[in-house]
Amino acid sequence: MPTPPRVIIVGGGLAGLAAAVRVAEAGLDVDLFSMVPVKRSHSVCAQGGINACNEVARQQGYSEWMHFDETLYGGDFLNHQPPVYEMAYGAPGIIDLLDRMGVPFNRTPEGQRDLRMFGGSLYKRTHFAGATTGQQLLYALDEQARRWEAQGKVTKYEFWEFLWPVLDDEGTCKGIVAQDMRTMQVRAFRGDAVVMATGGCGLIFGKSTMSVICTGGAAARCYQAGAALGNPEFIQVHPTAIPGEDKCRLMSESARGEGGRVWVPRKKQDPRKPNDIPAAERWYFLEEKYPKYGNLVPRDIATREIFYVCQDGYGVGGGRMVYLDVSHLPMETKKKLAGILEIYEKFVGDNPYEVPMKIFPSVHYSMGGLYTVYKAKPDNKGMVLGAHENMMTNIKGLYAFGEVNYQYHGATRLGANALLNCIFDGLFCGLSVANYAKEPHGKPAAELDAGVFEGVVEQEKNKVRKLVDSKGTENPYKIHQKLGEEMTDSCTVVRTEDRMKQAYNVLEDLTQRYQSVRLSDTSMWTNQNLSFTRALGDMLLYAEAILKTAIQRKESRGSHYRPDYPERDDAQFLKTTIARYDAATNKCRIEYEDVPQPLVEPRARTYGKVEAEAENKAGDKKETVKA
Ligand code: FUM
Repeated sequence: MPTPPRVIIVGGGLAGLAAAVRVAEAGLDVDLFSMVPVKRSHSVCAQGGINACNEVARQQGYSEWMHFDETLYGGDFLNHQPPVYEMAYGAPGIIDLLDRMGVPFNRTPEGQRDLRMFGGSLYKRTHFAGATTGQQLLYALDEQARRWEAQGKVTKYEFWEFLWPVLDDEGTCKGIVAQDMRTMQVRAFRGDAVVMATGGCGLIFGKSTMSVICTGGAAARCYQAGAALGNPEFIQVHPTAIPGEDKCRLMSESARGEGGRVWVPRKKQDPRKPNDIPAAERWYFLEEKYPKYGNLVPRDIATREIFYVCQDGYGVGGGRMVYLDVSHLPMETKKKLAGILEIYEKFVGDNPYEVPMKIFPSVHYSMGGLYTVYKAKPDNKGMVLGAHENMMTNIKGLYAFGEVNYQYHGATRLGANALLNCIFDGLFCGLSVANYAKEPHGKPAAELDAGVFEGVVEQEKNKVRKLVDSKGTENPYKIHQKLGEEMTDSCTVVRTEDRMKQAYNVLEDLTQRYQSVRLSDTSMWTNQNLSFTRALGDMLLYAEAILKTAIQRKESRGSHYRPDYPERDDAQFLKTTIARYDAATNKCRIEYEDVPQPLVEPRARTYGKVEAEAENKAGDKKETVKA
């Protein structure tokens, strides 16, 4: 009897779990790999909420179309419209499903699911569970995955690290090679389709709000194996985080969504404590510059404003911090934020219920990731349910879901669209994976010659041996620290050609130094030093793609802000960047692909600033005439 098809899912966060559930429901067996226990996946850090229209939102005049349109406007029209349409229109059903799974969404006194404001929207349309929404969703989906585990349909491999995809002679993905991070065993797993749901690449920037496992290593390995990257240059910097010695910690946008205000003292280097500064002497710069959206402008805009305010010397004490203030909110509202206010108190020591928090932007999310395709409906209003192509990379049989999938967010992601994108990919595109795996594509994985798998196992064992045996002198953590500093300085909030080129040269030097790296732990038991150092090599390659594509995108769009090219240039760059790895040069090759705009025409992305400035000017003129 032929062996039934199996699907491999790499990543145990929301996208991976949702996909596991969907594929198991479709009748297939799933092997689920995760570097950490799935309940510790980075999704657990998501705080603020998940966007969807519901009846309460509809009563304010909101609609799925508006969710769709806001997502495109936020993304500066670099997103593909059919998948975004499908996601926005599928969102209400996803929330209903999560509710039935037992997610403890906050409720209104009438028992409806409560909604909060979030960046980039003028409507309340973000569902939430306090300020620990990611955690609640993750636990609920894990419960569902466990049901399938109990029936033997899902097998979890926790503490296993993905090393490489296995391709057959035709270049079709037929499995993976992974390493057990306890015993250090390297082995192959056969799968008729493989889903990468491995999250973002924040560690390339040193400190970020991302977990320390978010190296981008898994994506970079697929990239080296032939999968293209889409829009790697688009990196999101979240405006409000607590800077830390080890990493930055998110202070959720929900603080502003619930009425929190960002401000600095009007007087530079004002020595007074924040609560001693009267309202008239506080500069609520976001509210002043963007009267329409106020503190809820999208992240790239809020981040740049905070950055410039500090650069101009208005930061708290003249430094790189501004106030995020929730102290004025009613206790009932503050209670909804308890999850993050506790984090602040724990890491900073001040009581944010009474004292404004000190925050600064931090790298938070990668809009870019593995390049994927989809099958649009004939009218472009969504994707064809179950079509094999949905979110498949350019390697047949290899899919990308969640943050590692470049598809939905264009040049900037709106807050609370990430949880949606992860679960949507898993549930909607999981069916595509199952349908694909059920049909023959060359020999089934179970019947492929063992040599195909053994070759990749040997390749990975050789890499391990090379690192363990290296007698070099370079400390991988020092190389990583320098990488993070260079990438953060050159390629985050403000990007100039000169600075990025300088960083590119440093990167070449770091890549050279990496050849002489030496491990401090050479044992073959839970060797995290090995795992990190291996990922560092991948981070350097991914960083090269980020920098090169950022240098070559000579325009400003969303989170990619170039003072040397301050305007959006649709004629040249309303295009997806496709980066392919060139083994001969160990660098990326860049191509561009048009982004079709079938449903909504691109428009200027001003968030009311231009209009407000024009009104102010007109007001000034009138005043002058009067005088
Ligand atoms: O600010 C936040 O709560 C983050 C949410 C998100 O990245 O979607």
